[in-house]
Amino acid sequence: MAKRYKILFVCLGNICRSPMAEAVFAHKAAQKGLKNTLLADSAGTAGYHIGDRPDRRTLKILSNHHITTPHIGRQVMPADFYEFDLILAMDNSNLADLKRKCPNNSLLSKVKLLTEYSQTYHLQEVPDPYYGTMEDFQKVFEMVEECSEHLLKSLT
Ligand code: 4NP
Repeated sequence: MAKRYKILFVCLGNICRSPMAEAVFAHKAAQKGLKNTLLADSAGTAGYHIGDRPDRRTLKILSNHHITTPHIGRQVMPADFYEFDLILAMDNSNLADLKRKCPNNSLLSKVKLLTEYSQTYHLQEVPDPYYGTMEDFQKVFEMVEECSEHLLKSLT
């Protein structure tokens, strides 16, 4: 795979789920020597956490798995729909927001639910853990890890 392929992971706030998915996917791509080929980023449909580092619970779960992230929170922007090859929503509300924000119908096919790539969690939502516990964040990790594995397989 020579061409660069860009994937944007999207949740609501861009501090819990999508930065975790971005970091896990980037980690797995790097392990396969695809760091410069498969490029991951993340963004939120809302703008509440623009400029913020990921939630400390997301950073803790990542660090438990020896994964770090430099991500700073940002909101989805119209240019993302042109820039990225694949835009993956964590839940159906994110998916609906993305479809509404998409600037051109011809770009809608790039927008999917992350779990479209899952075998175990096929078309389930990655639940919002923001008001939850560390167990909820652990569940998010398990889901985004399994999805990342299958996404990577489907792209390589
Ligand atoms: P995320 O979680 O969408 O997974 O980043 C949330 C983070 C912040 C808020 C909601 C969900 N919030 O309402 O501020």
